[in-house]
Amino acid sequence: MIEFILNNKHIQTNEPPGMPLLDFIRYTMDLTGTKSGCREGDCGACTVMEGSLNNNELKYKTIVSCLTPLGNVQGKHIVTVEGLNMNHLSPAQKAIVEQGGTQCGFCTPGFVVSLTSHSLTDDAGDPEKTRAALDGNICRCTGYKSIERAATALADSFSGRNGENTLEQLVATGHLPAYFNGIAERLKKIRKLAEPMKTNGILLAGGTDLLVQKSDEIAEGELTFLQDKKELKGIAVQDNICTIGAATTAAEISGSAELQAHFPALQSHFKLISSTPIRNMGTLGGNLVNASPIGDLSIFFLALDAELKLQDNKGKQRRISLKDFFLNYKKLALKSREIIESLRFRLPEKDEYFNFEKVSKRQHLDIASVNTAIHLHIENDFITKAALAAGGVSPVPFFLVKTSKFLTGQRLDEATLLQANEIMQDEISPISDIRGSEAYKRLLLRQLFFAHFLTIKPELFKLRNLLTK
Ligand SMILES: Cc1cc2nc3c(=O)[nH]c(=O)nc-3n(C[C@H](O)[C@H](O)[C@H](O)COP(=O)(O)OP(=O)(O)OC[C@H]3O[C@@H](n4cnc5c(N)ncnc54)[C@H](O)[C@@H]3O)c2cc1C
Ligand code: FES
Ligand code: FES
Repeated sequence: MIEFILNNKHIQTNEPPGMPLLDFIRYTMDLTGTKSGCREGDCGACTVMEGSLNNNELKYKTIVSCLTPLGNVQGKHIVTVEGLNMNHLSPAQKAIVEQGGTQCGFCTPGFVVSLTSHSLTDDAGDPEKTRAALDGNICRCTGYKSIERAATALADSFSGRNGENTLEQLVATGHLPAYFNGIAERLKKIRKLAEPMKTNGILLAGGTDLLVQKSDEIAEGELTFLQDKKELKGIAVQDNICTIGAATTAAEISGSAELQAHFPALQSHFKLISSTPIRNMGTLGGNLVNASPIGDLSIFFLALDAELKLQDNKGKQRRISLKDFFLNYKKLALKSREIIESLRFRLPEKDEYFNFEKVSKRQHLDIASVNTAIHLHIENDFITKAALAAGGVSPVPFFLVKTSKFLTGQRLDEATLLQANEIMQDEISPISDIRGSEAYKRLLLRQLFFAHFLTIKPELFKLRNLLTK
C-alpha cells in the first residue's frame, strides 16, 4: 500500500506503484485542475509540488506528475492547484490574472504551481530566477510576455523580504492555505519504507526516462524504487575526493554549495540541462544508465575522469572508470542485477579549469545536438593535463583520448587549438540524424571546443582569429 498526503487529504492506496501520479490525481481522485498534455515531461501542464521531509525539514519542489510513478510519492506531500486554492486568490494566481497571463487556461495550473513552489525558495524575490522557475512550463496561446510580467510582479512583491519566505510566513501572508502548517507533523507519522536494498524487476530512480520510454511496462511491472534510498543519496567530500550517490538528482548536484565552490559556473551549466522539474527528478545514475550518447551528466563527469562504484544483488562491489563504462551504443559494462551505487572524482584544485558547453534545438527541455566538457591543468600558459569529452559525435558519450593526449604538454595558443581541432575531427564519428547533419555536428563541436578556451582564458584567444586561420 502506498501512503502519502494529497493536498489536505491522507491517501492510502493499493493502485499499482507504477501508475503515473497524473492518472491517480485526475482519474482516481477526480482532481482535474492538473492537466494531461504531452505526458513526456515537456509541457508542464501536469506540474505539482512535492514536499518531503529531510532531517525533519519539509522542503518543496516541482515535479511533473506524468512521469512520477505512485511508488515515488510514498511518505510525501503532493500539492495540486486545488490544494493551493483559498477563499481569495493567492499572490501567484492574482499576478497571472492581473497581468493577463492566461487565455484558454490549460497551462495555467502548471504555471501557478511552479510560481508557488518558487515562492518557498530563497530566490523568491529575484525576478530573473522567478522567470527561470517557469522553464518547464509551456503555454501555447497567451504568449510569454504576460506570464513573464506576472513572474516579475510576484518576485517584486517579495523584495526586501528575503529569508522570510518560510512556510509559516507564506501561510501568514496568504500565499498558501493554513493546512500547510500541519503537514510536517502529519508526514512524520507516515510509515517509512525501510526495505533492504534489492534489485528485482525494473530499477526506477527519477523515472524521467523510464516513464517516457516504457510507460506500459512500468504501469504494471515489478519495480524497485531507488530515488529515496538513503545509501544512494548525497554528496560527500573527503580529502578532495567528491562522492555523489547515484540517486542524487541533477538539482541536488547543481545546488550543492561545496560543488559550487569548485565549479563556479555549475549552476549556469546545469541550467542547460532539461528544466526545473526534470532536474528535480532525474538522477545521476539514471542519466548514466540511460546511456544516451548526449547524456549531459555522462559528458560532465567523463571530463572529470570519474569512477563508478557498482554493487550486485548479493552486495558485492566493484569499481570501474566511467571511461570504460560505455561500451557501444546503449551497451554498458553493467551486469544484470548490478546497480550504480555512487560516482567519485577528484575536485579541481588551483590552476585547474573546467567548462561545459551544450547546443540543442531549444535552450530548455531539450537534449543536446552536441555537448562537451573539458578539464584542463594550466601552468605558465602550458597545458599540463587535458581531458575532453563530447556527446552527439559517437555512439557513446565519448572521451576523446587522442585529442586530450595531444593537448597535454602543448602551449596554450591558437596554433594548438587549430591543430587539436584537426585531431578531434579525425577522432569523432557523428552521424546525420534528427538533431543535425554530420557536417553540422562537426562544426558545432569545433565551435564548442573553441568556446571552452574563450571561456577559460578569454585574454588569450580571439574567436575571429580561430575561425579565419
Ligand atoms: C522533458 C525531458 C527533458 C530531458 N532533458 C535532458 C537533458 O537536457 N539532458 C540529459 O542528459 N537528459 C535529459 N533528459 C533525460 C533524463 O531526464 C535524464 O537522463 C535523467 O537523468 C534520467 O534519470 P532518472 O533518475 O529519471 O532515470 P530513470 O528513468 O529512473 O532510469 C533510467 C535508466 O537508468 C536505470 N537506473 C536508474 N538508476 C540506476 C542505478 N543507480 N543503477 C542502475 N541503473 C539505474 C533505470 O533502470 C533505467 O534503465 C530529459 C528527459 C525529459 C523527460
Ligand atoms: S503532461 Fe506534459 S509535462 Fe506532463
Ligand atoms: S493559456 Fe492556453 S495554453 Fe496557456
